[in-house]
Amino acid sequence: MVHTLRSLLALLCLAASCAAQAQGLQVLHWWKSASERKAVDLIAARLNDENVIWHDGVIPSGSGVGAGIVLRSRMLAKDAPEVAQVNGVALRDWARLGLLLDLDAVAAAGKWDKLLLPAVAAAIELDGHIYAAPVGIHRVNTLFYNRKLFAEHRLSPPLNWAEFEHAASVLHKAGIVPLAQSSEPWQVTTLFETIVLSEGVDFYRALFQRRAAIAYADPRLGAALLRLRQMKKWMNQPVPERTWDATTRQLADGEAGMMVMGDWAKGELTVRGLSMDEAFGCAAVPGTAAYHLYNIDTLSMLATRESHRPEQEKLAALIMSPSLQNDFSQVKGSIPVLRSPQLSKMDSCARASYKLFTSSPAVQVPSLVHRMATDEIVRDAIVAEVHRFFLDDGISVADTQRRLGNIARSFGKTK
Ligand code: BGC
Repeated sequence: MVHTLRSLLALLCLAASCAAQAQGLQVLHWWKSASERKAVDLIAARLNDENVIWHDGVIPSGSGVGAGIVLRSRMLAKDAPEVAQVNGVALRDWARLGLLLDLDAVAAAGKWDKLLLPAVAAAIELDGHIYAAPVGIHRVNTLFYNRKLFAEHRLSPPLNWAEFEHAASVLHKAGIVPLAQSSEPWQVTTLFETIVLSEGVDFYRALFQRRAAIAYADPRLGAALLRLRQMKKWMNQPVPERTWDATTRQLADGEAGMMVMGDWAKGELTVRGLSMDEAFGCAAVPGTAAYHLYNIDTLSMLATRESHRPEQEKLAALIMSPSLQNDFSQVKGSIPVLRSPQLSKMDSCARASYKLFTSSPAVQVPSLVHRMATDEIVRDAIVAEVHRFFLDDGISVADTQRRLGNIARSFGKTK
């Protein structure tokens, strides 16, 4: 009986639509924490409603370090998945090599040019073609704080570093870890890039976007490095190497008072049942309130087999649908990539992020660590150098500045 059914199905599946249905899409991404998982499940379920199966290819790795490596080796082995999370500058590099499908037809049909925020449209475009479906925008320079602890110790969210030091020392005296932090390289450098931004937006851009050699010799880089090192005293000793969601749990459990992390951490706090307005607050990293240090999550369709194209295009169209955009961001902690999102569905943190991001291109600052400012090689080299400096107090500020300057010089773009 089963056999007969299978043969019947096989016969029916000679029809093109059934063949497409049966394939499904392998999706390589790095969303593994509870909130990330919930957000992925949301896309997978809606894709399933459209008869396309999401074959999950998660490579757990905060900020995608491991996922990038796996994706590159799969490409080299000619075993590429059909869809991959390729964020930031790399997406254009991959498109240039002809590795990505253009999504021009879906974008035209869905009028993406009318829907998308200009910064997002620019990030997914190369030579007039579109190479990714944008999922959401994150704000990296976010300072989370535990409201109960802050109220108990009569603290307000610090607007500048002096206020931060004050809050940290009060919490420290009360036996609370002031700052939840991990020693993972990308988490250290995420904190560092926000400190650099607090030294001035033009300075940040000169260092990480223009990679101007002169900026690497600037005393402000020395000051940022020194601040990073001095902040260690406010962290667990020794600073534990743990995933970002474990870092977030320390804040959620009231063991730590503050945490600097992109607003994906908000997703993780909310998925644990903590409310934005009661349990924790979201503010800007001291000295950076006027800027939106951002990254954009994007899924690219890889040019594998032409027979996958209809399903790949369905996924791209789904991702850009306003209903998915609004619902996904709520779970993920991000904001939609749309010009007219449903503001009423946003919490105060997301609304502030959206309002700031759309206020002017001048406030939008691309994250180095989260791949928006520069290519992967330079990013990896800078992250490694800053991490070494953070771990080893014996390394001098001047040496690190010199080494970072050498990285900038070696990879061109020096002014
Ligand atoms: C991504 C987020 C993700 C975070 C932690 C960032 O680079 O943009 O979507 O939640 O890394 O893995």
